[in-house]
Amino acid sequence: LNPKEAKVYAELDPERLPHHIAIIMDGNGRWAKRRHLPRVAGHRAGVEAVRATTETAARLHIPALTLYAFSEENWKKRPRAEVAFLMGLLRHYLKQEVPLLNENNIRLGYIGRERELPAEVQDCMAWAREATARNSGMKLTLALNYSARTELVDAVNGLLREVAGNSAAAHVTEQDIARHLYTHHLPELDFVIRTSGEMRLSNFLLWQVAYAEIYVTSTLWPDFRGLHLLQAISEFQKRERRYGGLIEPVSAAEPAPPERARAAAAIPAEALTPTGK
Ligand code: FPP
Repeated sequence: LNPKEAKVYAELDPERLPHHIAIIMDGNGRWAKRRHLPRVAGHRAGVEAVRATTETAARLHIPALTLYAFSEENWKKRPRAEVAFLMGLLRHYLKQEVPLLNENNIRLGYIGRERELPAEVQDCMAWAREATARNSGMKLTLALNYSARTELVDAVNGLLREVAGNSAAAHVTEQDIARHLYTHHLPELDFVIRTSGEMRLSNFLLWQVAYAEIYVTSTLWPDFRGLHLLQAISEFQKRERRYGGLIEPVSAAEPAPPERARAAAAIPAEALTPTGK
């Protein structure tokens, strides 16, 4: 850790780290524009931020990190050349990153309508998921062709299929809906980070965000690094999480398992420096 990172890290409480962080990675286009570069240069630079953030989160033993890489709207509304570039970049990222994911014991997964993506991208995604399936550490989830409203539509249709012909079962609970969401296998979302200053959720994890803390930073995504993640977590730890009730300390409703807290407390500061290129 550089001195700045070490200072923020030293002040974090390892027992009150978020369990599931989701990031809206925004600002690639603005980053490129400021440098008089084409938009796609911003996306390429964004990959470095993905690598650094993922590695820092894994070393902090955050159980789940979900990155909004590509919304359904991006896919349908951006110029074809930019979409094609992003698809190529994703394949390149997956091929290149699997060794580093394995080195950090990270399991890769996806949320979104995979089947609408190009076949060769789906193949590459399946390959990377399989290549990291035996890892037991952080769950890294890429939201690709993702839309929260589509997720809810898919969940409702899944429920309808489940209860078809069984009217006695046609009473839906919150748990039933959660069970049918793309994120059914992930811990409850407790922290959302958005880069580049925009104060909106952009159709991301609308159900899951119910009690999550939201943090918006003006840093553009390609400039985001481990230090920014540590600063965001520090801010998370200052929030009072009330879940509609009375004041209680952050994460008190769901304390970190002691073994995880101990593991995080035992991380030497040097271990948090990403080894990525
Ligand atoms: C938003 O910036 C970013 C995206 C639509 C794409 C996100 C892609 C990456 C971070 C890189 C690739 C990621 C992986 C996992 C391979 P924007 O273009 O909307 O920026 P702007 O709002 O400044 O125009």
